[in-house]
Amino acid sequence: MAKHDLFHCEKCHSTFSKWSGKCDSCSAWNSITEITPLSLGPKSSSIGSKRGDNIKLSDLSSTNITTKRILSGVGELDRVLGGGLVPASAILVGGDPGIGKSTLLLQATARFSRLGLNVLYISGEESEDQIRMRARRLNLQDNPVKLAAETNLRNILTTLDNLRPDLAIIDSIQTMWSDNVDSSPGSVTQVRTASHELISFAKTRGTSIILVGHVTKEGQLAGPRVIEHMVDTVLYFEGERSHNFRILRAVKNRFGATDEIGVFEMTEKGLIEVTNPSAMFIEDRDDRTPGSSVFAGVEGTRTVLSEIQALVTPSSSGQARRTVVGLDSGRLATILAVLEAHCKVQFSNHDVYLNVAGGLKITEPAADLAIAAALLSSRQNIVLPSETVIFGEISLSGSLRSVNQASGRLREAEKMGFKKAIISKSKKKIESKNIKVNALGDLNAFIRNITP
Ligand code: TYD
Ligand code: MG
Repeated sequence: MAKHDLFHCEKCHSTFSKWSGKCDSCSAWNSITEITPLSLGPKSSSIGSKRGDNIKLSDLSSTNITTKRILSGVGELDRVLGGGLVPASAILVGGDPGIGKSTLLLQATARFSRLGLNVLYISGEESEDQIRMRARRLNLQDNPVKLAAETNLRNILTTLDNLRPDLAIIDSIQTMWSDNVDSSPGSVTQVRTASHELISFAKTRGTSIILVGHVTKEGQLAGPRVIEHMVDTVLYFEGERSHNFRILRAVKNRFGATDEIGVFEMTEKGLIEVTNPSAMFIEDRDDRTPGSSVFAGVEGTRTVLSEIQALVTPSSSGQARRTVVGLDSGRLATILAVLEAHCKVQFSNHDVYLNVAGGLKITEPAADLAIAAALLSSRQNIVLPSETVIFGEISLSGSLRSVNQASGRLREAEKMGFKKAIISKSKKKIESKNIKVNALGDLNAFIRNITP
């Protein structure tokens, strides 16, 4: 064994270069021992550290990468996954209870099984009969998906190891429990342990695993957030229960873009893909009422039109209300401040309600101008120009900044029958054949433009 000269006190963990009978630091007797570094320890020993095995190294140029993706055929799902399912990947599908996660995954597994994949659907929430009933309702009963109602992690792992399926669904991770963890199902420890075991299985045995996680009201169950960092892909299934639209959103994806969305409609016969979301998001729009603007946004690889609605009313209490759905409330505060400071439009004595129709969530700063348009339209009771899309980022000085993919946004607007666009000025040439584009440099010019 190589010579080394590190000693430490087992009581106070101080380190010394020489052995001595008494620790200089905490005055304990006979507490100084020699440290055996991990790299120098014996290959295996019953005491102290155990020497590790050599790691097999490879080159960056190695060609044995097998990321052959499998397309389910549900286009909206495949796109959100980044172009299909990656073998041996771990995916988390989160969402509110009752939003349609089990329905989506049962439909997806049926598609995958039809392609010849071995698929296992393990439910800890419903009985096999309940799942069979749902399958009949969705007319999927003839697909070769294997079902089980089970919550015991040890039994699940043993079964997975014997069957080695291509894909396994665990619905939901919060119902699974491991018998070597001493806490109840749904607790952070159980959820983490079960996820870790299942994900390790996926990585080492080549089975793709989809974990379903309920987003829960505080305190009851561990939310899916505690396992987000462990999986390759995190998808959230969102929507308002009162509406039939559902949006599958990638918030993390090691194999694809994260701002991608898939749009579905929940019907009597399960989820149906919405291939033209723009049409759906603006279908109920009434362009003769103040407070409504149309934004041309970019969601992943697609451009999507959506309606932004604002209602500005005189405030009856001392404290003005700000209620925002589908947009960032901080962004609203900034836009209101800019409108007050640079355009002299007062909002401080007014309640402001702002939302995106159809349950879409918009995070792009490119939506600033469409938000400002809806706010001004409601505040000043003016109807915005008809058949017009709006986009542009607002800076704190009140000037308008150019946004990316302007031509693509205009193309989508044109496809949906829009005739005009009010956008922020750009140095780049913006191409559009059939849309009359009005490119502006600041908010005051915009106000002059929309005021009849
Ligand atoms: P579910 O997939 O069970 O939700 P989750 O797994 O996210 O908790 O979906 C439950 C809701 O969907 C329920 O309210 C009934 C509705 N639903 C339909 O409207 N159509 C259908 O074909 C199915 C199967 C469910
Ligand atoms: Mg469910």
